[in-house]
Amino acid sequence: MTREAPQEDHDNPPQPGTSDPAKPRRRGLARRHLILGGGAAGLGALAGAATLLPGRASDGGAPPSDMAAGQAGEPHGTGTVPFFGARQAGIDTDAQAHGNFVALELRPELPRERVGALLRLLTDDAARLTQGLGALADTEAELAASPARLTVTFGFGPGLVDLVDPAQRPPWLMPLPAFGIDRLRPEFSGGDLLLQICSDDPLTVAHAQRMLLKDARSFATVKWVQQGFRRAYGTERPGTTMRNLFGQVDGTSNPVPSSEGHEEVVWGAGSHPAWVENGTSLVIRRIEMNLDTWDELDRSGRDASVGRRMDNGAPLTGTDEFDEPDFQVLNTVGFPAIEDFSHMRRARPEDPSQRIFRRAYNYDGAPAAGQISGSGLIFASYQSDVARQFTPIQQRLDELDMLNQWTVPIGSAVFAIPPGCEEGGFIGEHLFA
Ligand code: HEM
Repeated sequence: MTREAPQEDHDNPPQPGTSDPAKPRRRGLARRHLILGGGAAGLGALAGAATLLPGRASDGGAPPSDMAAGQAGEPHGTGTVPFFGARQAGIDTDAQAHGNFVALELRPELPRERVGALLRLLTDDAARLTQGLGALADTEAELAASPARLTVTFGFGPGLVDLVDPAQRPPWLMPLPAFGIDRLRPEFSGGDLLLQICSDDPLTVAHAQRMLLKDARSFATVKWVQQGFRRAYGTERPGTTMRNLFGQVDGTSNPVPSSEGHEEVVWGAGSHPAWVENGTSLVIRRIEMNLDTWDELDRSGRDASVGRRMDNGAPLTGTDEFDEPDFQVLNTVGFPAIEDFSHMRRARPEDPSQRIFRRAYNYDGAPAAGQISGSGLIFASYQSDVARQFTPIQQRLDELDMLNQWTVPIGSAVFAIPPGCEEGGFIGEHLFA
């Protein structure tokens, strides 16, 4: 049972990203056999093959007509998402325009009971703020008045669980294995307690974050903050698949909440103890996207890197975003129309039990010396079992993925997402039982 109250314009959103709003979004993945024998190839070869793809030369950058101005949803500054319930909000919630991910580190020697007190305090703040009320002793309560679908989702890192009850740590709650592509920085990795704060209004996010951190101050310090965004609310139809800063339609083959398989992928039985029942796991990867070198790639090379068209996200063997890709199709010179080393082909699990639910945000940071872009993706994926679902996909991408030429993971963290709670309770209470 999910906890979201229907929002006025989220009750029956047009089908995401389809060129016809009335057209049903097709869900579910064909379980085609992946032929991955080709091995790695250099950029030159990839670009060469890419330019030979039929009918994919420079599709042009104009947005599809259905995304034109004038079709935006209604403003909903006072919209609220219920806080109390069996599951935490912020996962099945239709992604808000802004998302801050804040990782806290518990102060050294913090007693176990104090962790409980911290969670009680933050639960109370989150419950109030998400409903448009000021937090406890809120000095700027006026800023809480427009929650704009604010959600605060709590995640527990390995350190917090070990402090409370190490016997209850799920086997997957640990840092991910090291990957060859990783260039991880401590300032974007790990953490004991995660606060995922999402809203359609950035001022609301900033205020909620400040209130939560004020109350957490004597228990914990801030380890990292990652500030993410999608398109501003109202700029396109609700439910449209997001675009990342490469310009790609990102999230098409995603088991979104209303689709078949979502329940199992995110909330299904995983290898976790009872206190995570009705909870899930979250992997956050901060991934740099090198727009400076991406600029050197033409449109057909860009299409080939993922195996989908830049203009509408359709697979290179189809015309509509939600067409099922056909990996058997060859182009006129005998290369697969969707390359074996394209991101989609490599990321697509052959085994349905390995699927993940992505809910990413873009970030735009300061450029490194000599560059003009500091952009990337706060890749956030939810799955009931990190080791069974996420890790095999990341391992395949680590071995071979055309996108690796422009992307570098620089942060990594894994959290258990406990279930929700009822009024009077607090998030994570079953861990203390
Ligand atoms: C900056 C890094 C990344 C970018 C720009 C990116 C972009 C994309 C794009 C454009 C698609 C195709 C549309 C879609 O179905 O969403 C896609 C698909 C996908 N990506 Fe990524 N991605 C990135 C990193 C990752 C990572 C780290 C993982 C997991 C370890 C991942 C897993 C997937 C999966 C599972 C799919 C769907 C494959 C399918 O079944 O068709 N991606 N990604």
